[in-house]
Amino acid sequence: MVPAMRFFATCAKGTEGALRRELSALKLHAVRGERGGVSFEGKLEAGMKACLHSRVAMRVLLELSRFQAEDAAGLYDGAGAIPWADWLTQKTTLAVEATVRDAPALSHSGFAALKVKDAVVDALREKLGARPDVDTKDPDIRIVLHLAGAEATLSLDLAGEPLHRRGYRTAPGVAPLKENLAAAVLALGGVEPDRPFLDPMCGSGTLAIEQALRARRIPPGLSRPMGFQRWPVYRGGPQSAWDRMKEVARAEVRTHAPAPIVARDMHPKAIAAARENLAAAGVAADVRLEQGDAREVDPAEVGGEAGSLCTNPPYGERLMGKGEREEAPQVDRREAANQRRKLEGLYRGIAEAVGRFHGWSAVFLSGSPLLERAFPMKPEVSHRLWNGPLEVKLLRYRVR
Ligand SMILES: C[S@@+](CC[C@H](N)C(=O)[O-])C[C@H]1O[C@@H](n2cnc3c(N)ncnc32)[C@H](O)[C@@H]1O
Repeated sequence: MVPAMRFFATCAKGTEGALRRELSALKLHAVRGERGGVSFEGKLEAGMKACLHSRVAMRVLLELSRFQAEDAAGLYDGAGAIPWADWLTQKTTLAVEATVRDAPALSHSGFAALKVKDAVVDALREKLGARPDVDTKDPDIRIVLHLAGAEATLSLDLAGEPLHRRGYRTAPGVAPLKENLAAAVLALGGVEPDRPFLDPMCGSGTLAIEQALRARRIPPGLSRPMGFQRWPVYRGGPQSAWDRMKEVARAEVRTHAPAPIVARDMHPKAIAAARENLAAAGVAADVRLEQGDAREVDPAEVGGEAGSLCTNPPYGERLMGKGEREEAPQVDRREAANQRRKLEGLYRGIAEAVGRFHGWSAVFLSGSPLLERAFPMKPEVSHRLWNGPLEVKLLRYRVR
């Protein structure tokens, strides 16, 4: 029997629980939450399934080897011992990416990546009599080194382009959420796909689009190319497995969302960006776009039963950032105080508006402690996660 392969799906810090539940629901084996991601086991098809269906994962890595590498020579030897000819031919272009943590002898990630590249190229030259080329921008195969202390893990990246790039973001807007983080907010916030949904500060529309994709059961990886499709092994069994997987998924897609989805923003530019992205995602007919102030929203406008209000309000991060406050001259400090008052006013208005949504849940991805202070009640969920380098909070209120 062929031993099971080991995979590691990465995600935004703090969203591991959502990813673990998602991968378990896909019936993958040995699903285990770890720091920064979730591991699972299976055949190559298991990794492909995660690429097609996971809304929360950023990458899916197939682990080829784990070994001790105290220094550059150890890394070269360990990497050279992998049977690379199983995965690449001399015509396969490759790139090596490295992340390095607590490795004094190999602290430079570029140097570590170079050592791995040398090992791969030398091993293939010896085996095949010719070497493959490196293409850092658009390689056929991406090799990923993770070095933590002296433990090296070498993997292949199944997705290629990170999975949050679903392919629908044609208009970026201001401070858009990554698509997989938006999906994690919906999952961690307990937003139900079949109930009414409102994002009153939608920006480029990411939360509403992700909600519409869930509601219509459109897998996030259905319409984008995956890295593994360029692997030499793909043309054997995996290609037909991938085609079949997508066919089954397509048959599950609903023609329309079963409940209203409304996205609002005060700014016409945000509405224009959201409109473009909704169309690119193929869910324009499922989401009603409206221009208006979040403080004036009313559940009657959404229609249907009680559902979820879910949004990512402005944080005022730039003006209130710690570093800037310390160094800022007098005038900037006054401006920051002004911004703070504005933000407090906005949050109070939002809290008042939310009070009108009896029976609804209200989910926020918030970067400011001022939001929580504006609410008269305590959140029933308060969860820390990371929006890139920014620590943010997911808050859920039940409106009674
Ligand atoms: C952090 S951005 C949201 C980004 C969004 N989640 C995305 O992925 O693109 C906050 C949005 O709130 C909008 N906004 C600010 N104040 C508002 C208000 N009073 N009413 C409605 N929208 C508002 C801004 O125009 C901006 O688009």
